[in-house]
Amino acid sequence: MSAKGAYQGLCGIFGCTLINGSAAIIIHEGLKKLEYRGYDSAGLATVHEGKLYVKKGKGKIDEIHRLLNFDDLPGHVGIGHTRWATHGAPSPQNAHPHSDCHGLVAVVHNGIIENFHQLKEELEAKGHVFKSRTDTEVICHLVEEGLEEGLSLKEAVKRALLKLSGSFAVAVVSPLEPDKIVCARKECPLVLGLGENGTFFSSDLPALLWLTNKAVFLYDGDLAVISPQGYSVERIENGEPVDRAVELVSWSPEQAEKGGFPHFMLKEIYEQPQAVRNTLRAPRSYLENMCSVIEGSSKLYLVACGTSYHACLAGSYMLSRLAAIDAKPILASEFSEWCGNLIDEKTTLLALSQSGETADTLDAIKMALEKGAKVLSITNVMGSSITRLSHVYIGTQAGPEVGVAATKTFTSQLAILAQLSLMLGLRRGILEAEEHRALQEALLNVPKVMDFCLGNVGQLVKSIALRYAYAPSFYFLSRGINVATALEGALKLKEISYIHAEGYPAGESKHGPIALIEEGFPCVFIVPKGEVRGRLLGNVMEMKTRGASIISVAEEDDEEVKAFSQDFIGVPSGLPEVLSPIVYVVPLQLLAYYAAVARGNDPDKPRNLAKSVTVT
Ligand code: F6R
Repeated sequence: MSAKGAYQGLCGIFGCTLINGSAAIIIHEGLKKLEYRGYDSAGLATVHEGKLYVKKGKGKIDEIHRLLNFDDLPGHVGIGHTRWATHGAPSPQNAHPHSDCHGLVAVVHNGIIENFHQLKEELEAKGHVFKSRTDTEVICHLVEEGLEEGLSLKEAVKRALLKLSGSFAVAVVSPLEPDKIVCARKECPLVLGLGENGTFFSSDLPALLWLTNKAVFLYDGDLAVISPQGYSVERIENGEPVDRAVELVSWSPEQAEKGGFPHFMLKEIYEQPQAVRNTLRAPRSYLENMCSVIEGSSKLYLVACGTSYHACLAGSYMLSRLAAIDAKPILASEFSEWCGNLIDEKTTLLALSQSGETADTLDAIKMALEKGAKVLSITNVMGSSITRLSHVYIGTQAGPEVGVAATKTFTSQLAILAQLSLMLGLRRGILEAEEHRALQEALLNVPKVMDFCLGNVGQLVKSIALRYAYAPSFYFLSRGINVATALEGALKLKEISYIHAEGYPAGESKHGPIALIEEGFPCVFIVPKGEVRGRLLGNVMEMKTRGASIISVAEEDDEEVKAFSQDFIGVPSGLPEVLSPIVYVVPLQLLAYYAAVARGNDPDKPRNLAKSVTVT
């Protein structure tokens, strides 16, 4: 099967317009600082004496440089790109910068152009010849058209951008206007740097700090023209000039890497709305390929470890509820013992792994492949082992996760599982078109709901964490799909704060766990409004009457739950229960984070744990 799925989400772009000196040497160094954003291919373009010079290739920047020598590209003006998450094998053709038919422009781009198929068809019908399979190349040909009609570079870029749907941070150079770069952003980061010897742009601030501490943060929908003397900014939609002030940055490069947050984990928790938003842009065709494999199989296993396994639990609930599909979630380390003799050619394994390198998960996959099963996967690392072993894979677009505790990759996995379940539900006639539409809309709205939640609960959760940071033990309880959230909340707390914690289905607590309850024992209840709420309230009361301290996560207007709780964490109302884990887990991640910090632990590097567990 060739239906591998991956698309370009996270890349790094960098460029400069210098008063004097070599742009290529500066860009080469800048790209190395952005390499954490992508490292499967890279390239540079400079403009010199009316000509465009381009060097690009596949591999890491150092490898390409050894072969091609980026540093001898001539000129004071140039752009560069380092790429991540590509379809199949990265190639020099697909590496950026891209150019048009006549060498009038070079373009670097981070983001996803959703309507590129349609634009490409239109451009090809007009005679444009494409050299790559990227979405980015449509920008080159659109700008080319504008230039040929006599528009300025800025106007040609602006008109091209207005035709795009999707996301971008983009930069364009042209030998027709050799001393400037036009750059713009929509939902992808882009920052300008102002130095003594010129003006720079970069995907992020840390890559600029070795050159200058004067930064201009562009807003979504901004277009900037930079030249050695300075910059101007206007809105893409109407060309209205806007003032974007110069900020003096006092961060050290290390602080800047964390975006001003004290730890990567906290930064990554706050990145979740964007990670989920990007992930929800998975092209339909990849989801459709997965659906076809699932529909053609007689058994479906969801296989993973740790946090990814908790996503499998929630995914199995989604598939059952939305698509009437019986999907068995199973820990990868138990897979061969429990299911080994059940696998055949009609079996499908859907494996989840942030790193794509977890040995237990890879072992389960290899065993299933040997028995003729089909393998689907969801991972955050393109090119990882799991992508090579899978018949079809989809990439979560969470960006690199540096903190050892998985956060944004978990919610991104849930987003894909929800999309998949909704698509299957519609295809199988389980969801009516109207019901499907409403749920799909709610799913697309999840990033906004996460944003509200993060904006509202941070300080509250911090104060709760400080009060309970030395509790010896915690329970996390819920019913239905949020049993997965409860298990994840408990795992987060124990792995970074080292407090003992257990997640349980709340209905099961009276069959044993309740014996531990005494005065002040913290019980975190996840209580969305929906089917399970009534019975959950009964479980809350069972614990409360035995002296437990109830910390609840519930809809912000749920006065009844509030009345039962010592501590009440309100999340925005109206989220369908089947999607609720994607938001309800956020306060639990924060609780774990602040408890860890209160106890003096480094949440980014918990003891005894590794980001990628490559032993069985
Ligand atoms: C917990 C955590 C681990 C991983 C597990 C699987 O925060 O990060 O439990 O979820 O080791 O890792 P991946 O998803 O890379 O297969």
